[in-house]
Amino acid sequence: MNDHWNAHLYDEKHSFVSHFGEDLVRLLAPQKGEKILDLGCGTGDLADKLNQLGINVVGIDQSENMVKQAQQKYPGIIFKVEDAVSLKDQNEFDAVFSNATLHWVKSPKQALQGIYDALIKGGRFVAEFGGKGNVQVITDEIHQQLGEFGIEFKPEQFPWYYPSIGEYSSLMEQVGFRVTLAQHFDRPTPLNGENGLRNWIEMFAVSMFEGVTTEVKELIITRVEKNLREVLFHNSEWVADYKRIRVMGIKE
Ligand code: BEZ
Repeated sequence: MNDHWNAHLYDEKHSFVSHFGEDLVRLLAPQKGEKILDLGCGTGDLADKLNQLGINVVGIDQSENMVKQAQQKYPGIIFKVEDAVSLKDQNEFDAVFSNATLHWVKSPKQALQGIYDALIKGGRFVAEFGGKGNVQVITDEIHQQLGEFGIEFKPEQFPWYYPSIGEYSSLMEQVGFRVTLAQHFDRPTPLNGENGLRNWIEMFAVSMFEGVTTEVKELIITRVEKNLREVLFHNSEWVADYKRIRVMGIKE
């Protein structure tokens, strides 16, 4: 599969992703000596945090570029290229932790089944990712502009899965979890610099522009910036309309 992730750019311009994840680490409440899977480890910053707390952490990511960069930054941690929907471990981890990843996984029940199976009995799953309505102001405007350029947009080009907590909790229960926490909240997220919105779109919304020439894509992004400036540009910075869901479940 084509690995479009640029790990260096990710570290340079999108480090806020793991910064927000530190709060989720507190919810995970890791205990020294536990074995924890970091699902969607990116370039490894949160896995490193866990490692420093005395956790036996394994980081996995679907992107080879991300895993390579993580391994270079943190050679003492095990990182592997692995897909969330085909986890191989069984009854192995005290916890599965996942920050800002599961909105990329469009077969959520399959992923949840693998996560459940990877946990020991009594193990916990703690995750945060984009929930219903996440970045909708941005994606609606891209959608609108694609339409104005006469470009057809197929639903499968939408890159993400943004469930409500009702939907996701129900899937968790279907695979066997007892859901102990489910929250859905706004998190307006500053994007670095004058080009913050453009960088975000170019980094993350790649598949929305499939088949669109670079020239037209640039025109569309410029229009998106112009139309959203009043809504999302405050005090000299772009602020994305993130909406997160946060869940915790126990394997009983
Ligand atoms: C998120 O963390 O919500 C997110 C990040 C990148 C693309 C889409 C959503």
